[in-house]
Amino acid sequence: NGLLAGMFSSAPQAAVTAKPSRRVAVLYGSQSGTAESMARKLAKELKAQGHAPALSTLVGYTPAALATESCALILASTYGDGDAPDGVQPFYEQLCLEHFPCMDKLSYAVFALGDRHYEHFCKFGKDLDSKLASLGANRLADRVDCDVDVEAPFAQWKTAMIARLNEDSPLSSRKAPGITKQLNALQLAESSGNPEAPTAKAFTRDHPLLASVIDKKSLTHVASTKSTLHVALSIEGTGLRYEAGDACGVIPTNDLNLVAEILQKMRFNGNERVPGVKTSTTTLHDALTHERQITRLNRKIIQGFATRGNCTPLLDLLLPEHQIDLDAYAYDRGLIDLLTEYPGVIDDPNELVGLLPKLTPRLYSISSSPAAHVGQIHTTVAVVRFTAHNRDRGGVCSTYFADRTSVADRLPIYIQPNKKFKLPSDSDAPIIMIGPGTGIAPFRGFLHERRALGHKGKNWLFFGERSSATDYLYRDELESMYVDGHLARLDTAFSRDHSHKAYVQDRMIEQAQQFWSWLQNGASIYVCGDASRMAKDVHSTLCRIVQEQGAMSGQAAEEYVGILKEDHRYHRDVY
Ligand code: 2AM
Repeated sequence: NGLLAGMFSSAPQAAVTAKPSRRVAVLYGSQSGTAESMARKLAKELKAQGHAPALSTLVGYTPAALATESCALILASTYGDGDAPDGVQPFYEQLCLEHFPCMDKLSYAVFALGDRHYEHFCKFGKDLDSKLASLGANRLADRVDCDVDVEAPFAQWKTAMIARLNEDSPLSSRKAPGITKQLNALQLAESSGNPEAPTAKAFTRDHPLLASVIDKKSLTHVASTKSTLHVALSIEGTGLRYEAGDACGVIPTNDLNLVAEILQKMRFNGNERVPGVKTSTTTLHDALTHERQITRLNRKIIQGFATRGNCTPLLDLLLPEHQIDLDAYAYDRGLIDLLTEYPGVIDDPNELVGLLPKLTPRLYSISSSPAAHVGQIHTTVAVVRFTAHNRDRGGVCSTYFADRTSVADRLPIYIQPNKKFKLPSDSDAPIIMIGPGTGIAPFRGFLHERRALGHKGKNWLFFGERSSATDYLYRDELESMYVDGHLARLDTAFSRDHSHKAYVQDRMIEQAQQFWSWLQNGASIYVCGDASRMAKDVHSTLCRIVQEQGAMSGQAAEEYVGILKEDHRYHRDVY
């Protein structure tokens, strides 16, 4: 006690009165380190102001210790499904035991951190705050619930808390003046729908939106050799925006059966602590489920097994001259195969996780139009399944949609804008769309968009699939658009309906004259779908049509197509 506030230039308002020096417990429950670093800043400032901060994590901290404090400022993060950070739950559980003593000597304030996109926003902070109040502790200020943009609210809270501690009145007598009002105003600005508000933030792969599944249906018949899904997600009221032609990034979860099999093979129970991608540590189970790519092999993983176990066949594959064999080996195998073929080679969870690449989001062309499907995003998903080396396998994200997603589930998504794949700015310009298979996705979006916005430009679609009876994606919609004239032309190529294969490029050739005339009339061309064969064949067919119909040399035709590209009249979204 007795330090003069006038010594501190940052607190001139208290210069004329003696300022108390208080012991303040600064406690944090931190998952990713944000709450911890804020707690450190707070403690440093408290110290600079002449108080005696006692900084501690809530991991291993006890309610009994808290009961001996007169003042505690608590920074509490929530993560996942409303959970306390790793290691903090025991503290909270003890606090909730019935025999726990009264906390009426304690004055406290909670600064809660969370992520508004999760259902249980700031739940741990909220629970802790109300539990302490119910145990008789005195709230110094209303709790602040803070989203990922922590800086401004934290600075305000810190200033207000320090101002309160600098007052010489007893802490328990009243709340910090004005703090709640100020912070409420700040939070209102943050959550308002105003795009200019400081909080209008984009959803990204690191901060995805949890979008509810509102529809999921098969676009292919059960008898099909393929499975393609239509998945609709709600983005209503979220502020998420996209344009027709954009892609949707989806952050998938691995197959839990496969994770269980990997754990069993390694004789781990899944609770082992390993380094996390977003957090300093996580459980092995969560790392394998949410953070790591487990269905694909690469050189690093194979190298890890080869050197660790001195596995001759693998070492041999790694020789530079055996690159093709290595690719062939890795092509249709995953981690489980290495664990099966070389058991016991890797027995350390940290080492295993260190070998595995991060699980990356998968991009899907959006098949809806923001103007026509207000508040929704649709995707068109080809489900990848195959059998190799006596095991049924599948694509991570397409099986996530097919097997691990139901209506009402919430999926982490974000928008990947595709600036190069946009409708012409001239709404009267004709467009030709070539999209076999799931390449139809952006074109369904374009067609609905043009109709919703009243664009007068003519639309021509080429669509191809295996069989018209089982694989004609969005058939009813497309045919009714053709019947009512929104689609001026609809050409389909069902490759397996006849004894000889016909592809979209064959239909282009059949319609070469029309195709050329559309081009002459300023049509833009869009191609979406398979890059390895279809897009190449369609490109050479386009050159051929230009050459033949325009009576040009091969080189002149290529130049013509090159100019179409430069003029933004030839767009490709191929994968
Ligand atoms: P296929 O599977 O019978 O060979 C969507 O996948 C459609 O694209 C299918 O009808 C598929 O036919 C067809 N396809 C396959 N290769 C193609 C190519 N090189 N060009 C255009 N379409 C192709």
